[in-house]
Amino acid sequence: MIKERILVIGACGQIGVELTLALRKKYGNDTVVASDLREENPLLRGTGPYVTLDVMNKEMLHVMVIRQNITQIYLLAAILSATGEKNPNLAWSLNMESLLNVLEIARDENVQKVFWPSSIAVFGPSSPKVNCPQQTIIEPVTVYGISKYAGEFWCNYYHHRYGVDVRSIRYPGLISYKSQPGGGTTDYAVEIFYDAKEKGSYECFLKEDTYLPMMYMPDAIRATIELMEAPAENLTVHTSYNVHGMSFSPKEISVEIRKHMEDFTITYNPDYRQPIAESWPQSIDDSTARRDWGWKPEYDLAGMTEDMLKNIK
Ligand code: NAD
Ligand code: SER
Repeated sequence: MIKERILVIGACGQIGVELTLALRKKYGNDTVVASDLREENPLLRGTGPYVTLDVMNKEMLHVMVIRQNITQIYLLAAILSATGEKNPNLAWSLNMESLLNVLEIARDENVQKVFWPSSIAVFGPSSPKVNCPQQTIIEPVTVYGISKYAGEFWCNYYHHRYGVDVRSIRYPGLISYKSQPGGGTTDYAVEIFYDAKEKGSYECFLKEDTYLPMMYMPDAIRATIELMEAPAENLTVHTSYNVHGMSFSPKEISVEIRKHMEDFTITYNPDYRQPIAESWPQSIDDSTARRDWGWKPEYDLAGMTEDMLKNIK
């Protein structure tokens, strides 16, 4: 039997910290090598091996994969939607080169499985707004969305052409309290909780009626691990799976927060992120993920809000 050795790239980011901790809990601390460009996140310290790694340096990555006997890679390094619009060239090169480096090394070495996240940002203004299906018109208008769309088809290509077992989820906006979000359009749904606790008010950069698909981090981590553990023969999608958690607007989340903090107030000052949000669907049809690997979210808006407020100090 193969001894699994898992490499998480981008382990200090919003998803990486929680995913690394969950993988270590499940498979053993020493099985999971965390890596990132930046300093080790304090929550990871002392929980398992950590290496500083630039995923753009293919030779270093290749040597690491061989030396550490890596059998699975979770690639989380990326530039997200809002930051991507400020520096499109950087977003394109990081998001594409990192994926191609990982796919090539996985093909050439003993890497059995790769996880790479796509996003609801693959969809564009011509995609259906409500219950956006797995397969539909996909015409993204952000550089981030274009990189996710191209990335999905690179994953599909490496699967069909070289047999690389690469799996992917189109994450919605992710809400969490353990590590901060890294420059996305959905970040307001995290910021709002911190400002509610610190100031009792929040100025939102999206309009009050902007509905977006969202998911609470525990569901996102579970979805990731469930997909990676699903039998290969059950998987029919080799681009990226739609998954749904919840859908709400800034106004709706503010009403939910007010149920716990009656003095909380919200104001709206939409900026360059408003058109990005408006280009995405409001909700997602995830029936293919439910059928293929049994996906089912646990958290709704009320459950997520209660848990966030309980955990943010
Ligand atoms: P993040 O920005 O919080 O974390 C990314 C991490 O990658 C950071 O710690 C950063 O230091 C690291 N990194 C950047 N450049 C690197 C490099 N050259 N080499 C090594 N590490 C590098 O992002 P996240 O929110 O954790 O997202 C992870 C993945 O999930 C991304 O692909 C993102 O597109 C996708 N995703 C995230 C969300 C979300 O809401 N957070 C939603 C949809 C998809
Ligand atoms: N949360 C991400 C963003 O807003 C969606 O991929 O960029």
